[in-house]
Amino acid sequence: MKKTIQKYQFPSGFWWGSAASGPQTEGAAHEDGRKQSIWDYWYSKQPNSFHNQVGPEHTSNFYYLFKEDIQLMKKTGHNSFRTSIQWSRLIPDGHGETNELAVRFYNEVIDELLANGIEPFINLYHFDMPMCMQAKGGWESIEVVDAYVRYAETCFRLFGDRVKYWFTFNEPIVPVEAGYLYNLHYPNIIDFKRGAQVAHNTIVAHSKAVEAYKKLKLDGKIGIILNLTPSYPRSEEERDVKAAHISDLFFNRSFLDPVTKGHYPKELIEILKEHDVIPAIQKGDLEVIHANSIDLLGVNYYQPRRVKAKEEKVMPETRFMPEHLYDPYIKPDRKINPHRGWEICEEVIYDIMIDIRDNYSNIPFFISENGMGVEGEEKFRNLEGYIEDNYRIEFVQEHLKWVHKGLEEGANCLGYHLWTFMDNWSWTNAYKNRYGLVEVEINQEFQRTIKKSGRWFKGLSENNGF
Ligand code: BG6
Repeated sequence: MKKTIQKYQFPSGFWWGSAASGPQTEGAAHEDGRKQSIWDYWYSKQPNSFHNQVGPEHTSNFYYLFKEDIQLMKKTGHNSFRTSIQWSRLIPDGHGETNELAVRFYNEVIDELLANGIEPFINLYHFDMPMCMQAKGGWESIEVVDAYVRYAETCFRLFGDRVKYWFTFNEPIVPVEAGYLYNLHYPNIIDFKRGAQVAHNTIVAHSKAVEAYKKLKLDGKIGIILNLTPSYPRSEEERDVKAAHISDLFFNRSFLDPVTKGHYPKELIEILKEHDVIPAIQKGDLEVIHANSIDLLGVNYYQPRRVKAKEEKVMPETRFMPEHLYDPYIKPDRKINPHRGWEICEEVIYDIMIDIRDNYSNIPFFISENGMGVEGEEKFRNLEGYIEDNYRIEFVQEHLKWVHKGLEEGANCLGYHLWTFMDNWSWTNAYKNRYGLVEVEINQEFQRTIKKSGRWFKGLSENNGF
């Protein structure tokens, strides 16, 4: 038989897999001692904020189906898989007693993954503040920061003998943007200064968790997952370039610099001072940030941010928002995912890789999320009964070509995880946009069917390229 020549060969040991999160997949929201997170609470108060009023208890039942799901992971070529522990399941009161049923569940998941040759990557926080902790002020409260660090340490002690890759947070800027700036998630506050406090306290929580992990001298790596959304200027004109630089400081460097370099970008601090929105910094905060940089970075990439110089002056009495310093820009000839409305721009993934190589000491990282959401995906079901998602295969291939180029040019990228393994519940969008390699039907059984992309992904992983 003629052997096909692969054009894009990846380094041996490259991680192929996907990412998910506990709150989006486990289901069993009210079972075995789990208590409310902000999502359960918010849904109970405002179901209309969720697509088709589908709330967080309707997630894919991974709690009961994880053994079958791990078999599907094998069938779709996973050698690694990320999920998150739910704080509200492991320590239902936020601090104090650990829930033994939750310990058993997470132990079983970890053991089952390992028994099937799949490396577990465990994240500790995916937007899911326990409601009892939000009642204390959420990330604005130092008490909550301390409770999180104790929760993190509990996880390291319980599971750190087997879990070798830990992540403190997924996309920590999202709760800041969505919860404190743009009124998209609970607690629906619009106040930049409070958002800045949430961001700073999250970074302190992250750094203290890294410190706790290192103290335990476990044999593993710890990092954070950041959504890097590079800002591109409308033109090369100085004022547009400056606008892009400022939005980059707010939305990328604000987290990337402290977790890798141990300090905030100086220019960002100057801007915050100028607008009188500097958060309160406790004694010791900057030192703990400085002393605890990460071992490994996860990069989530979906689409770029495009900006231009501010066109109209902001009224002086308006409360500060980053958008007072630039305007969003829509590139007329951009490529669009018509099923989600997001721009597709594959080469940005390469730009991120080169930026990390050149400006962040080429630290080890991996693509921890990338993926294509599709609304109304059932229309792509073929006669054999599975979703024929050629667009997703093409999407992954086109991104991987750029990842490959970055690797050839020396970027230290260790793997590629797709968002996501199976279609899952996604916050206010619920099940609107499907991202999985595996379809999940939203019925009593949560029936799973591997999509064409899932079959293709297996070949990709087995051949370590395409
Ligand atoms: C990612 C998040 O950024 O986007 C996920 O980490 C989320 O939790 C995913 O589900 C998709 O979002 P959406 O809004 O398209 O369903």
